Amino acid sequence: MPFEIVRNDITKMKVDAIVNAANSSLLGGGGVDGAIHWAAGPELLRECMTLGGCNPGEAKITGGYRLPAKYVIHTVGPVWHGGNFGEKELLTACYRHSLELASAHGCETVAFPMISAGAYGYPWDEAMAVAVDTITQYLNDHDLTVYLVIFGRAE
Ligand code: AR6
Repeated sequence: MPFEIVRNDITKMKVDAIVNAANSSLLGGGGVDGAIHWAAGPELLRECMTLGGCNPGEAKITGGYRLPAKYVIHTVGPVWHGGNFGEKELLTACYRHSLELASAHGCETVAFPMISAGAYGYPWDEAMAVAVDTITQYLNDHDLTVYLVIFGRAE
């Protein structure tokens, strides 16, 4: 299975596309979003300003600018409200739409952070289960290599 869980800073990943856990403005923020904008440089924000934001569960693609990755795929995860507000469906859609966008742009390698598992409060184990299930299902019939990137200390 061309799927690996690795511990790294996603901005260092030498892949075709890294995924950003953004907010619906797509204009930057903290966490992995802040790290990606910091590493990519101001040209990334300039391109993001042309995109008109992004709804939760959807994804949009930009260049990677000063990152080693060629593209950044920006997706907006759900804010955790206890689990009965469509959070799982939205998180599944984030992974699925990001993978589809990567395929449509000819990417062979893609790295994801743990979408929604930081500021947006999605419980870690459940966020991990959605990530693993959605990625492995996609890889059943698509030819990609996917990394799920865990950051920092053991969480
Ligand atoms: N590389 C990989 N993973 C990272 C990195 C990094 N450099 N930095 C943090 N993480 P979060 P969310 C992990 O809060 O929950 C932003 O302000 C982090 O440990 O970045 O989807 C946006 O603008 C955690 O496991 O994203 C939104 O407003 C995971 O990335 C909001 O936060 C996601 O944590 C989105 O919240």
